[in-house]
Amino acid sequence: MNFLLAKLGIIAILPLLTSARSWYDLGIYGIYPTEDYVSFGMKSPLVSIAKWDDSCNCDYTLLTPRGSWVRDYGPMILGPRGGLVWMETKFGVAMDLKVQQYNGENFLTFWAGVNDGTHGRGVYYMASQKPPALPVKANKAQLNSSYDVVHVVSAGNGLEGDLHEFKITPEGTALITIYEIVSADLSAFGIKSGWIYDGLFQEIDIATGEVLFQWRASEHYKVEETFEPIGWTGRIKGMAFDFFHINSIAKDPMGNYYVSSRYMHSVTCISPDGDVNWVLGGRRNEFEDLSYGAATNISWNHHVDWHDNDTLTIFDNGATDEIQTARYSRALLISIDSVSKTAKVLQQFVTPGKYLSQSQGSVQILPDNGNIFVGWGHTAAYSEFTADGELLCDTHFGPSLFFGWGKVKSYRGFKAPWIGRPRTPPDVKMPDKQSIFVSWNGATEVASWVLQGASPEHPQFMNIGQIPKDTFEARFELGAEVDDYDFLRIAAVDLDDDVLGYTSVVDRRSRKMLSDSFVPLDLDADAESEESFVLQGSIFITSFFFGVWFIWRFRRTLVERASNYYRSYCVNKNTSIGFQPIPTVEIG
Ligand SMILES: *[C@@H]1O[C@H](CO)[C@@H](O)[C@H](O)[C@H]1NC(C)=O
Ligand SMILES: *[C@@H]1O[C@H](CO)[C@@H](O)[C@H](O)[C@H]1NC(C)=O
Ligand SMILES: *[C@@H]1O[C@H](CO)[C@@H](O)[C@H](O)[C@H]1NC(C)=O
Repeated sequence: MNFLLAKLGIIAILPLLTSARSWYDLGIYGIYPTEDYVSFGMKSPLVSIAKWDDSCNCDYTLLTPRGSWVRDYGPMILGPRGGLVWMETKFGVAMDLKVQQYNGENFLTFWAGVNDGTHGRGVYYMASQKPPALPVKANKAQLNSSYDVVHVVSAGNGLEGDLHEFKITPEGTALITIYEIVSADLSAFGIKSGWIYDGLFQEIDIATGEVLFQWRASEHYKVEETFEPIGWTGRIKGMAFDFFHINSIAKDPMGNYYVSSRYMHSVTCISPDGDVNWVLGGRRNEFEDLSYGAATNISWNHHVDWHDNDTLTIFDNGATDEIQTARYSRALLISIDSVSKTAKVLQQFVTPGKYLSQSQGSVQILPDNGNIFVGWGHTAAYSEFTADGELLCDTHFGPSLFFGWGKVKSYRGFKAPWIGRPRTPPDVKMPDKQSIFVSWNGATEVASWVLQGASPEHPQFMNIGQIPKDTFEARFELGAEVDDYDFLRIAAVDLDDDVLGYTSVVDRRSRKMLSDSFVPLDLDADAESEESFVLQGSIFITSFFFGVWFIWRFRRTLVERASNYYRSYCVNKNTSIGFQPIPTVEIG
């Protein structure tokens, strides 16, 4: 009988064995599969590459994963194949991680603060990337961190900065969104004196904090022009009616602003004086649609950006949590002729899986190859398309089975080059006598790790072994070659074998760190909840117990198989570093 059950189980599970990817998308690795590390206490998403093409952009992917299934949330940088590069949880919920230029320097920028689900009250952070300035390579380790916050930008006029937009202009100003609760005449909805969330944006001089420009939706749009049902909102101040839902701002070289309104289904072009130049989409659409309605029927949209030749990119959600107006979400490239008032879809970008994102999302034109990078917002995925609309790369950071649930999401997603030099030293941990683990959160220039040993008789550290860095964390297997040493440490070296930093020194026998106080990482805290995730994911499999046994038995292998997706890096970056011979020179 048991034998028969097992046999049935194997038959039921057989189709799933064919692809690790479909395992992933069914939630077999968990509802939010993560990579766990020994030397580093946070968990990063274990991604699944649903589609890959070598011509995809090789820069880093910038996300802000969050949602109720995401334990460690905040700004995050992933490698081209989805491996962790940097993550930080100290800011709490973050949104809109980008690399932007200010005064000729690159900054990692993001919003963080209090988020009520659809609006935020917070500030905008700018962490600097110091250019590789020092001529003496040996001093690289003394350079300042790339992750130090050097500017904090706040909204002006006594208001608080909203999560949706923080865009730095070439003039050194910042465009930000703001939600302000104000009283309003809602008699169109049978409420004489009600409350709305007004949608504002400000242009702020980053250097001085001065508000250079402010625009307010309620002065230009009537509340009843909205598509959003008022429901129970609008009656009391604590439940104001969000009639406009401002969610992105762009500015063109002539000084016109472009505002995306989710609940008006529109893009509004505003002159430098604050007047409405034109409206695309929604009830007040002024454009003739040369693409049979596809350019002007945007709905519940996000992230409008202006580009050369009067083109706009728009993330057209086509749905909210409650209302669905389109079958799927689209990224759009639209050409605008504001004189003849015509609009035309030049290209739309849709995945074969036809993702439908009820909220959030972003579109970016990649500067190096003109490809289109789409962050699917509420859907835990990001994609790269050719300018012709062909899907090249598609990565999931949560199982597709749960895409509609919004438990794992990233408000936007962008691609950017970045050089990361953390202030903190590399992390090290020796969990047992046979292994020592190393990682360095945020360091982008480490080519390999060099294990070094010393002892009271030989206080000078000697090189013992070297392994290339191809994933976030590396493990040295310790054999007889370390027997002569009482103390171990690991040096992070770059492509030229120059040392970028050293870990703390570890006492080989006690396995404790000497130069820092020893703080054991709480690695097993989540083992239990992880198991229940596995159960939830496999509920629909007929051979339930067999499945769980099988997964448990081969869990490590499966995760390793999935990891292979990102173990091989982009081909056209200098990241494939072969095993290097152990150098004989002394370091340290
Ligand atoms: C590093 O930061 C310190 C202060 O935090 C500053 O004095 C120093 O100039 C910085 N060094 C570099 C190379 O930027
Ligand atoms: C807009 O038009 C496109 C293309 O015809 C269609 O796929 C989409 O469903 C339409 N959206 C709405 C909200 O009608
Ligand atoms: C703008 O249009 C011109 C002429 O059609 C073309 O040569 C140029 O490449 C376009 N620029 C962009 C950024 O598309």
